[in-house]
Amino acid sequence: MDISKLVSNFISTFGIKPEHLIRAPGRVNLLGEHVDYNAGPVLPAAIDRAVYLAGSPAKSDVVQLYAFDIGKEISFSLNNLEAKQDLEGNPLPNWALYPAGVARAIQQSGRQVAGLQAVYTSDVPIGAGLSSSAAVEMAFAVVWQELGGWSADRMTLARICQRAENEYVGVSSGLMDQFASAHGVRDHALLFDTRSLDWEAVPLPTGTVLVVADSGIRRSLTTSAYNERRAACEKAVEILRQDLPKIQSLRDVTLVEFNQLRHKLPPGVSLRAEHVITEIERVFSAVSALRSGDQQTFGELMYAGHASLRDLYQVSTPELDALVEIASEIPGCIGARLTGAGFGGSTINLVEQDHTDAFIQGLKQGYIQATGNETQVYLCQASQGAELIKQ
Ligand code: GLA
Repeated sequence: MDISKLVSNFISTFGIKPEHLIRAPGRVNLLGEHVDYNAGPVLPAAIDRAVYLAGSPAKSDVVQLYAFDIGKEISFSLNNLEAKQDLEGNPLPNWALYPAGVARAIQQSGRQVAGLQAVYTSDVPIGAGLSSSAAVEMAFAVVWQELGGWSADRMTLARICQRAENEYVGVSSGLMDQFASAHGVRDHALLFDTRSLDWEAVPLPTGTVLVVADSGIRRSLTTSAYNERRAACEKAVEILRQDLPKIQSLRDVTLVEFNQLRHKLPPGVSLRAEHVITEIERVFSAVSALRSGDQQTFGELMYAGHASLRDLYQVSTPELDALVEIASEIPGCIGARLTGAGFGGSTINLVEQDHTDAFIQGLKQGYIQATGNETQVYLCQASQGAELIKQ
């Protein structure tokens, strides 16, 4: 990312130099999909694709933003955030709900939000399942922390961003994406327990690379489909609680208990719950495999995770399935699966470093042959979390 371009853009937009430069990364998730809102463990990694934000305090309580990549500007007041309107009284466009939602969530947490002038740009592809929105949220949370004169720990920042997404944007997402953007550790995956909020960095296998392949498919109605999946999990807990009164979430249900009681669930709900319960086990097994250097088992768990997202959680697409199948046949591919919420987006591939070039070529060719479309492939590195960039 060319930071000097961002700075010169800020100067030409606002006529002053930016006081703060911030980087907040996107993420991939290696395993533990759709378990963060079921209190389960997840295994994401922040990546070296990020939102870059240049910002300075404004004298008034107005926020003036320029979203460089889409060439759009917006101004809104901090005194009227619930209205979700710009200064002229027009509804905020979707892209502006993320920063405005963060401002609102900071206010709700009792902290100070200052007027702001900001320009931001991103190299996290939008809608590709790499948490471009969490990266935007985190960049704004960090700049408002700097301007507000308060300091919160990283988990608090992540929760503020999650609140913005849940309450202001209207997606009932879990905490994984914002957590990863805040806590990333270079060359490591992050084992994050979304119940206890404990986490630790686990080294990625040596001699491997992370390859993201974007299917190019963007589904509409992703938000409602996502919220529906979450509602199905809650329904499962509600029904299972009649027999297992102590359970709080699907995290608390063992596979043995589930198999005894699954006949009580409506068929669709039972499939969703089975995915979540087996996926939680896969995360624990995958971390043991990582720790013991057993790459093969780790890769098999990734493939099994994909099959479960395809058949039980039903959030894959034919294009994502094609990407995983093609990848699995290319030498050097340790494991592959869809990453993020699904409904289109990308796959994550763990690949032996020596095979990187041939793998990427094979995947691109195979995808065109299978679907007639091109896949955009990104070689990613697990990176550090959100940070201030020195000027
Ligand atoms: C989206 C959400 C996350 C998580 C994933 C699925 O990325 O924002 O909270 O639920 O989907 O694992």
